[in-house]
Formats: sequence, C-alpha cells, structure tokens
Amino acid sequence: MKSELNRQWILAKRPEGLFSEDHFTYQEAIIRPLQDEQFLVEVFYLSLDPTQRMWAQTDTYLPAVKIGDVMRSLGMGVVTKSRNPAFREGAIVQGMTGWQSHVITDGRGFSQVPDNSGLPLAAYMGPLGMTGITAYFGLLDIGRPSKGETLIVSAAAGAVGSIACQIGKIKGMNVVGLAGSDAKCNWLTKELGIDAAVNYRDANAWQQLQEACPEGVDVVFENVGGKMLDMALGLINVGARVALCGYISGYAKEQNPGSHNLPMLISKRASIQGFLVLDYVHKSRDAISDLGKWMMDGRVKYRMDIETGFKDLPVTINKLFSGENNGKLLMQINTPPE
Ligand SMILES: NC(=O)c1ccc[n+]([C@@H]2O[C@H](COP(=O)([O-])OP(=O)(O)OC[C@H]3O[C@@H](n4cnc5c(N)ncnc54)[C@H](OP(=O)(O)O)[C@@H]3O)[C@@H](O)[C@H]2O)c1
Repeated sequence: MKSELNRQWILAKRPEGLFSEDHFTYQEAIIRPLQDEQFLVEVFYLSLDPTQRMWAQTDTYLPAVKIGDVMRSLGMGVVTKSRNPAFREGAIVQGMTGWQSHVITDGRGFSQVPDNSGLPLAAYMGPLGMTGITAYFGLLDIGRPSKGETLIVSAAAGAVGSIACQIGKIKGMNVVGLAGSDAKCNWLTKELGIDAAVNYRDANAWQQLQEACPEGVDVVFENVGGKMLDMALGLINVGARVALCGYISGYAKEQNPGSHNLPMLISKRASIQGFLVLDYVHKSRDAISDLGKWMMDGRVKYRMDIETGFKDLPVTINKLFSGENNGKLLMQINTPPE
C-alpha cells in the first residue's frame, strides 16, 4: 500500500559552499484533493543538476528558489489521479516536480514521455532529455564543428560532456576529454572511443593535453571553467569557438575561479558564447530524433548514476561537485513502471 503522504525537501537557508542537510527541512505533507484541470504525479526520478546549487543561492536565468519552498528540480513520474483530459492516469510525464515524492499540477511545463520506445525511461532524464539536448545544441549550434577539427570537452565523462564527446566523434572531430580520474579517462577512450582523455589531476596534465592536440583546438565545450578553461584557451587556433555550457568549478564557491587566458580570444580572433538549453526547447525534437538513432545504432553510449536514498538527497547532490558521480545523477524515489 503506497503512502498518500508527500515527502518533501524544503529550502531552509541559502547555501554557502557545498549543500548540507542544514540548508533544507524534510517534511511530510498531506496530499490535497485535485481541482478541475489538475492531476497528481507520483514522482519516481528526480534529476540532480549542478545548476540547482545556483538556484538555491541566487537569481540566475530563473529566480532563486524562495526560502520555505520545495527545492526546484526536474523530475519524472506517473499520473496516478487526473482531472485533466490531456494527461490520463498512467501517463508518464516530465516537468519541474521539485524535490518531492508527489506533485499536483495543471500540466503547465509538463510533457508526456513515450513509454514504448524500447529505451529505459531513465534515458529520457539523460541523453534523451535536457542533458542530451544541451550537448547536441551546444556543440552543433554554438561550437559549429567541422570534420577534422579538434574538440576539447571538460567534465568529459559527465552527463552532458560524454554526449558532447560522442557527437564530436560522429561529426568527424579529433576529440580530447578532460576528466578527474583514470577510470573516467579509460571509459572515455576505451568505451566511448574518443581520441584522448587527460586526467586533469595529473601533475603533467597540461603537457598531456598539448600532446593530445598537436594541431591546436578549434572547438571547446566548456563545462567547468577556471583552470580547465584556461588550459583549453591556451591551445585555441585562429577562429576557434568556445561553447560555454557551464562553470561548475565556481557554483559552490563565494568567488568564481576566474580565467586568466581570455586575452587568447583576441590574438586568435576566437569567440566565446554562453548558451542555455531552455532556448532550444522548441527544437528539442530534432535533437531527440538524432540522439535516439545514434543510441539505437550504438554510436552514443551513456551511463546513469541512480541513487535511492531520498533522505540523503541534500548530501547526494554533492557527488556532482566532488566528481563521484558516474554519468547522469538521478534520485529514484519510487519504483518506475516496467
Ligand atoms: N547551459 C545549459 O543549458 C546547461 C544545461 C545542463 C548542464 N549544464 C552544465 O553542464 C555542466 C555539466 O553538468 P552535468 O549535469 O552533465 O554534470 P556532470 O558532468 O555529470 O557532473 C559534474 C562533473 O563536473 C566535474 N567537476 C565538478 N567540479 C569540478 C571542478 N572544480 N573541476 C573540474 N571538474 C569538476 C566532475 O567530473 P570530474 O570527475 O571529471 O572532475 C563531475 O562529475 C555543468 O557545468 C552544468 O551547469 C548547462
């Protein structure tokens, strides 16, 4: 018998440094009856994303989560009760559920997930979801790659980075990844087939990176910022494009580690452009269609890191900042349907 209580994590105070349990309050709330046009979702996956650390702290491209509100996140679940004809009971849906086991919504911002594609539902929270769409448009639209060019990807073994690496290979690039362990580097070269991977924690990482890019770098897919960005900028060619996807090295710090090599953009007549996946939602079908095909024919591989301890959520999310996650980090809070 499933509980009718909604288990929730409420933002209690603005974080400094990494998240801890002090920043949140756990509560169990009664699930209220539905009104017309509303439906109830039993959430089974929550997406844990680096950007949530920013959402808890300050206004960004979305307003900061208010103190006292359920912590914001994407999630996926099943409709268990509905008074909205567009969302039938049993439908699998995705949207801003927040860190909670149930959500009542009128469907705004929610979409239905195909439950007959032959791919695991979790894939729609990773390579076929926001993660894959970010890598796809960030590389193709901002990076504008050409065959034979060299691409550097930071946080290359992560959720977004690993997809960006593989799209780079599909487009005929020489792909070099930066990652934080030998195991991650081996996965990138041996399993995903990229050309070289450098463990940035190695004392001679800079030398290894130079050797992996003998003809310089044309496209940088930047997830980390700081030292990673500086190393990549140190190797850019004339006309290089830097797609600034994320700056995770600064999210949990009072001050962002800056970049000292920005003047390289001048001498190399290169460009750096930030982008947001939100701006590509209207084109997401193109990305999902290509990524789905590439996954089916084995050209795009992925891994998911699915945690199950909902009570540990405020600490589990820190795996993204320590590098302990292996692939797209999810929190499973209910059993997904078969
Ligand atoms: N622009 C957009 O619309 C958009 C959308 C989604 C995500 N993003 C950004 O994409 C980036 C990756 O997100 P994700 O969800 O795919 O996470 P992820 O890469 O799966 O996990 C984060 C990884 O970042 C690396 N990392 C963390 N702190 C680091 C540091 N100080 N120095 C070097 N590496 C560090 C760790 O890998 P190692 O073990 O290799 O250190 C960690 O595993 C983030 O910056 C995120 O904000 C942007």
